[in-house]
Amino acid sequence: MKYENIHTSVRDAVAIVTLNRPKVLNALSHDMMTELADAVDGFEADDAIGVILLTGNEKAFAAGADIAEMVEKTSVDMYMSDHFARNWERISKCRKPIIASVAGHALGGGCELAMMCDIIICADNARFGQPEVKLGVLPGIGGTQRLIRAVGKAKAMDMCLSGRTMDAREAERAGLVSRVYAADVLEVEAMKLAAEIAGMSRPALYMIKEAINRAYETTLSEGLHFERRLFHAAFAMQDQGEGMRAFLEKRAPEWTHS
Ligand code: CAA
Repeated sequence: MKYENIHTSVRDAVAIVTLNRPKVLNALSHDMMTELADAVDGFEADDAIGVILLTGNEKAFAAGADIAEMVEKTSVDMYMSDHFARNWERISKCRKPIIASVAGHALGGGCELAMMCDIIICADNARFGQPEVKLGVLPGIGGTQRLIRAVGKAKAMDMCLSGRTMDAREAERAGLVSRVYAADVLEVEAMKLAAEIAGMSRPALYMIKEAINRAYETTLSEGLHFERRLFHAAFAMQDQGEGMRAFLEKRAPEWTHS
């Protein structure tokens, strides 16, 4: 598939996907999300790739779903096309770790897309928000569900009901983002983090991601049980023996991802 709304590149084991509609602050269109889903399909299937890094430009990660594309739609249009299902959610189904590297606006669908990723890091100029209320609607790609899990009810209600934005520091304090960097070093730091994670044992990464995501869906006792079973299963992996032996032999592990 030829991409017109995203740009992709590969650096060692890291796939970089850049949202690329700068004229509309990377507003998320149907075509862009189809391309993004296609890119995720490809990188997920590619054994050479360990981590996907999703980013925008210095002004915007994404300023939301494309309002021009939605303005004339009817409820039946939205329902029958199951708008925001399938390709829009593809990234949340990826088994490989995905890092969102956010500078500038991450609003509406942009904030929701970042929250579908596993880790959000951002520049000090980043702004996060769910301003859909100002358009007479509500978040439609998980904003009301994922934001509350990330920042708690008080801030999620505040942001969704007032449409206000959070700056990078507040987002870090609230637990929405894990690291904040000066805007001019974000790209380098994002790449460093992605490369570091891509250098780990792949099956261990998959298991960790699956176990953490299970915490969203289940009770603590079920989650602990699930984690314990995965932990036991990890001892069937060559990487378990290699990782532990390498530690004791004071050398770097050589992962076989098996
Ligand atoms: N959809 C379509 N176009 C958008 C857009 C969006 N979400 N956000 C920005 N643009 C366009 C603007 O229309 C403008 O286009 P023109 O140059 O052709 O006029 C261009 O991007 C630049 O935007 P501004 O001139 O508005 O830039 P600014 O710096 O003055 O303001 C902003 C930046 C505060 C982010 C402002 O653009 C804004 O409020 N954007 C809309 C944010 C929003 O409401 N997002 C939620 C969308 S709905 C949604 O996402 C639903 C969901 O849950 C999935």
